[in-house]
Amino acid sequence: MKAFVIDRYSKKGGGRLRDMPSPELRDTDVLVEIHAAGINLLDSKVRTGEFKLILPYGLPLILGHDVAGVVVRVGSKVRQFKPGDEVYARPRDGQIGAFAEFIAMNEADVALKPKTLTMEEAASIPLVGLTAWQALIEKANLRKGQKVLVHAGSGGVGTFAIQLARHLGAMVATTTSTANLELVKGLGADVVVDYKKQAFETVLRDYDVVLNSLGKDTLEKSLAVLKPGGQLISISGPPDAEFAREQGSSWFLRQVMRVLSFGVRRKAKRHRVSYAFLFMRAQGAQLSEITALIDRGVIRPVVDRVFPLAATGEALAYVETGRAKGKVVIKVK
Ligand SMILES: NC(=O)c1ccc[n+]([C@@H]2O[C@H](COP(=O)([O-])OP(=O)(O)OC[C@H]3O[C@@H](n4cnc5c(N)ncnc54)[C@H](OP(=O)(O)O)[C@@H]3O)[C@@H](O)[C@H]2O)c1
Repeated sequence: MKAFVIDRYSKKGGGRLRDMPSPELRDTDVLVEIHAAGINLLDSKVRTGEFKLILPYGLPLILGHDVAGVVVRVGSKVRQFKPGDEVYARPRDGQIGAFAEFIAMNEADVALKPKTLTMEEAASIPLVGLTAWQALIEKANLRKGQKVLVHAGSGGVGTFAIQLARHLGAMVATTTSTANLELVKGLGADVVVDYKKQAFETVLRDYDVVLNSLGKDTLEKSLAVLKPGGQLISISGPPDAEFAREQGSSWFLRQVMRVLSFGVRRKAKRHRVSYAFLFMRAQGAQLSEITALIDRGVIRPVVDRVFPLAATGEALAYVETGRAKGKVVIKVK
């Protein structure tokens, strides 16, 4: 099968389309013919080797963390899916490889695709949808009437998180640039801060939750926006010891992560708020709940551009500009 593969880690990027053997199917796996794959910054970070310590992949490696397609075969222990089912997924770490014609995935990571979406739209959802779900519902337990600041509302995670937070009944503020003001308002943001014109930390007060996906500067300024007891959740780092424990990391890595997050944890304590890092995980059951919300019209995908599989390198480069509005998708079939 054709696949977009890296042969080595490189800060300069790299990767090429080449022939690879079809994936092996284990008892609990479904084999999916891929119609579309979503691009994530995680693909770029894996490609450069930035995630080598946390995700030690062997090479050559097929990149790609988001997939939509049709089940063609199932392992002997698979109970939930059958050939012909239209599905989507964020396959678990260790089983990635969405930039290809076929992928084998554990059935626990997979969900039926929303009927109301095209394959390209469906492939844009899993990783960012699960990230928003795990941040706002699992970690923050965001409730009706609470106030949440979602940074970078026009990005992949932001476009989903705004809609999910609104659905939960929260009051949603977001940051974006002038060009994307209408987009984020259309997704349901109640308060929009144009970061080109205003400093968010001077206009927002008494928030219950901040979802950070930007750099250290934004992370630390976000502390001032929270009320005592509030929660700062970051998906862009720094990782903390709790995350290392969840990953089953060594004692050494746990200490490294404790040190990396020491500064922000200390400042959070001073502000009487909590800090937590989230690294999303594959979860078919949560994705099924997301399917239901999409089919009810509660959440819609925001797809910026669609590239062919042959242009995966360009698609990654476009996402790496940091200017994508919503998601970028590869059309495979
Ligand atoms: N830990 C996890 O599990 C996890 C999961 C998903 C993503 N992430 C990480 O989270 C980060 C965001 O991911 P993503 O997929 O949402 O990114 P993305 O889609 O590439 O984000 C692009 C968007 O960010 C906006 N943006 C850039 N700088 C901004 C600023 N200073 N203030 C407000 N908005 C800004 C841009 O809008 P403008 O053009 O208007 O500036 C653009 O629309 C990445 O670092 C990614 O690796 C982590």
